[in-house]
Amino acid sequence: MLRHPPYFFAFRLEDVAVKQGVLGAASVVVLAVGLASALAIGGGAAEFALADPGEIVRYGLPVAKAFVSAGAALAIGGLLFRLWAVPTGPAANRVMGQVQIASLIWTLAMIAYSLFAFMSVYGLPFGADAEFGTNLQYFFADTELGQLLATTTGLAVVVSILSALTRSFLGNAAAFLAAVAAMWPFAEMAHSGGTANHAVAVSALILHIVFISVWVGGLVALVVAVRSGSDFRTLVERYSTLALLSFCIVTVSGAVSAGVRVGSFDNLVASPYGQLVIAKIAFSMALGVLGAVYRTRLIPRITGANRGLVRLFGVEVLIMAATMGIATGLGRTATPVEDSLGGELSASEILTGRSVPEPWTFTQAITEWRLDLIWVLFAVITTFWYFAGVRRLVRRGDSWPVSRTINWVFAMIVLVYATGGGVAVYGEYLFSVHMIGHMLLTMMVPISIVLAAPVTLVMRAVHPRHDGSRGAREWVHAIVHSRWVSIVGHPLVATVIFALSLIVFYYSGLLKWSMTTHLGHEWMVVHFLVGGYLFIQALIGIDPTPHRTAYPVRFILLMGTMVFHAFFGLSLMMGESLLLPEWFGAMGRTWGDDPLKDQQVGGGIAWGVGEVPTLVLSAMVALSWVRSDGREQKRLDRKATLNHDQDLNDYNAMLEKLAARTDRSPRDGSSADS
Ligand code: HEM
Repeated sequence: MLRHPPYFFAFRLEDVAVKQGVLGAASVVVLAVGLASALAIGGGAAEFALADPGEIVRYGLPVAKAFVSAGAALAIGGLLFRLWAVPTGPAANRVMGQVQIASLIWTLAMIAYSLFAFMSVYGLPFGADAEFGTNLQYFFADTELGQLLATTTGLAVVVSILSALTRSFLGNAAAFLAAVAAMWPFAEMAHSGGTANHAVAVSALILHIVFISVWVGGLVALVVAVRSGSDFRTLVERYSTLALLSFCIVTVSGAVSAGVRVGSFDNLVASPYGQLVIAKIAFSMALGVLGAVYRTRLIPRITGANRGLVRLFGVEVLIMAATMGIATGLGRTATPVEDSLGGELSASEILTGRSVPEPWTFTQAITEWRLDLIWVLFAVITTFWYFAGVRRLVRRGDSWPVSRTINWVFAMIVLVYATGGGVAVYGEYLFSVHMIGHMLLTMMVPISIVLAAPVTLVMRAVHPRHDGSRGAREWVHAIVHSRWVSIVGHPLVATVIFALSLIVFYYSGLLKWSMTTHLGHEWMVVHFLVGGYLFIQALIGIDPTPHRTAYPVRFILLMGTMVFHAFFGLSLMMGESLLLPEWFGAMGRTWGDDPLKDQQVGGGIAWGVGEVPTLVLSAMVALSWVRSDGREQKRLDRKATLNHDQDLNDYNAMLEKLAARTDRSPRDGSSADS
């Protein structure tokens, strides 16, 4: 990876033009004004009733947080702009210069923020005595908040190093993923919106801060990149795609974040928190209007580099900086909805933040919902793109089987249900229902996604890029043909991952991690989906794949999986102890089967329900086997027609030769020639 000297030294200050320096300074001023106003309105830096750490800490904390948010935004947005809009070269170097500076600011601000957070929690002013050091060590090593802060700081350091050392797409993509991962602890640390909605609040806020970063950091990267001489209109159009996506996700996730933290319309207008949210909505709408003007009026008229437009981008950056300042103050303002449940708590409230729901019935299965915004937005946005792709094919006269589109829509509906419907709500209380959710995510959704052939659609519908940059088509191609996919996509490896996941997930700490933490839960959903997709793609995939295995082998892999599922299901059905007694056994549920019986039912579901899709898969493999034989036969027939049965003639000639040789060889064993 290290083919060039570290770019840290190659980075030229004059890359940051004076005008950008002015824009940077103005943004800091506007950010500070936004923050100061929000702290004044929301009281986010007010003296603590108990153990006040002092003014430096009370103001230092939000100020450091504002620089953390700004640094992270410029790093994440810059990286995605580099990965999406510019080829490796001068423009990429300029943008990566921004990322380097931003990740450095982010890291330093993270260290300051973590220190202030420690002092604020302990109510300690800054001190250099031994006790301060011991507490500090304990805080970062043994407290959840300290660990979250240390993780984020560590990831910010990783982003700094990667962005200094690499300019390749792969290296920058790794830096981007590390930067996005660093946002998760932030979402976990923020106002939780009351324990009942903690998962909803975290999902909404992670989307919010990641796409704000794409929006804000991408715009600054555009301003930085336009000086590299790349085609101005192309850069603006590519950024505009990211900006539109970000605006939609920021607005929806902002509304959901506000909803769970504000609670009612009265609170919105009456509480300082609500008033700051209203201010943010106003700024967002202004940004939305600007975006619409760009897309409808200004971009279509771009003929070349346009100073006026770049200045307008500068104004937009200032509006965003003000909004981020207000947002940071908002993050320090008390929410109308209490962050934690008060009074005597039931076991279920301690574990899930909610009391045990009504008994599990068919009605509950279809009427109980707690949508996960991450998967709802994934389903809506990818389905919009899927339809846009099909529409483009149909418009240019190409056909696309309607069954594929139906499969995509069906897959997305089941995905939203499995992550936010009755099975998701009750899956926290009943192991059997959790297993139904598992089977939907690892079998039903992937089967439909595979039959929807999304990779083929992208390769056929999205226009290729010709300037060395990477758009959707180039990234899908790079991923499908990557070494990683060729390993995990190999039918044997995919089958082992698919089958062993059951054992590893349920008989290790992963089950507990996924039930007790939101990050663990989201990881579980992604793992089940990807594991199922790779396995099913290897067996019946329409999309291009690095490996095409013979049908008999596919059948053997399928049979092997069925046997594995049966053993796993049986082991649970016969099991005499709970897999997670501190969760399913401690919920205090008064209806339905007792936890062990329910777990045994879960085993039955894993075996029974799990086998149904496997049988469907076997039928599909058999069908595609017959079809491919049919196609092969047609191909051979066509060839025989074209070359007048040359192969058959050759074969017959070979048989004749063999027959002749046998005829010539003497029956009494003396050699023919003698
Ligand atoms: C419809 C518009 C928006 C709404 C309703 C909204 C609402 C929210 C809410 C409720 C939070 C959580 C704060 C907390 O932890 O209590 C938040 C966080 C945040 N918002 Fe927004 N937001 C919107 C648009 C924006 C825009 C346009 C930006 C920036 C350009 C932005 C920047 C941020 C940032 C940086 C945070 C994290 C604050 C922190 O924890 O320090 N938001 N937003």
